[in-house]
Amino acid sequence: MSEKLHIIPHDHKIKKADRIAQKKHKPTILWFTGLSGSGKSTLASALEYKLHQEGINTYILDGDNIRNGLNKGLTFSDDDRQENIRRISEVAKLFVDAGIVVLTAFISPFKEDRAMARSMVESGEFIEVFVDCPLEICEQRDVKGLYQKARSGEITKFTGIDSPFEAPENPEITVQTHKLSLDESVDQLFKFVSKQIL
Ligand code: ADX
Repeated sequence: MSEKLHIIPHDHKIKKADRIAQKKHKPTILWFTGLSGSGKSTLASALEYKLHQEGINTYILDGDNIRNGLNKGLTFSDDDRQENIRRISEVAKLFVDAGIVVLTAFISPFKEDRAMARSMVESGEFIEVFVDCPLEICEQRDVKGLYQKARSGEITKFTGIDSPFEAPENPEITVQTHKLSLDESVDQLFKFVSKQIL
């Protein structure tokens, strides 16, 4: 049996609503999902820049960065990917409570994990952004040289090669980075997101 932990949450005076009133925009999670090399980080970064210029309070949680710190030590097994997303969902929820627009850029290949992330916040506070780019194009881009390593067997369990990616069925927005320029993609996102948060 697990040990009983005596933990009693404290009810703090300043609430989420107070923080929102101060910031004058709604907080939200912009959840970017897609293959490695699809453009999640690039898009999140460019969108954050634009939001920041509009005076919106933002933060980016990015897979490769977070896996060097908070999630250091997690592998790419299905279980560790799930734990990766569980922790990020908790952190993203804290950012929403803080009144911030948080952009998360993780492959997040499993539908169930993304549904869990969505369930952490109120409806309307989670915008799933499917960065839809065919595997062949991501592989051609191979910005980090990882697809080549996955094909040669140097890296195993690589998403799209020998680990699955479950594409979202009903994302709030889909961006096709192989069809649009970066500016066009960011404009599309900015129009959608600003309607939701301002
Ligand atoms: S997730 O699947 O757990 O959501 P996450 O977004 O944190 O993945 O990390 C993905 C990044 O880790 C990729 O962009 C790539 O740079 C790197 N990476 C290293 N090994 C793998 C792998 N086996 N599968 C996918 N990405 C990997």
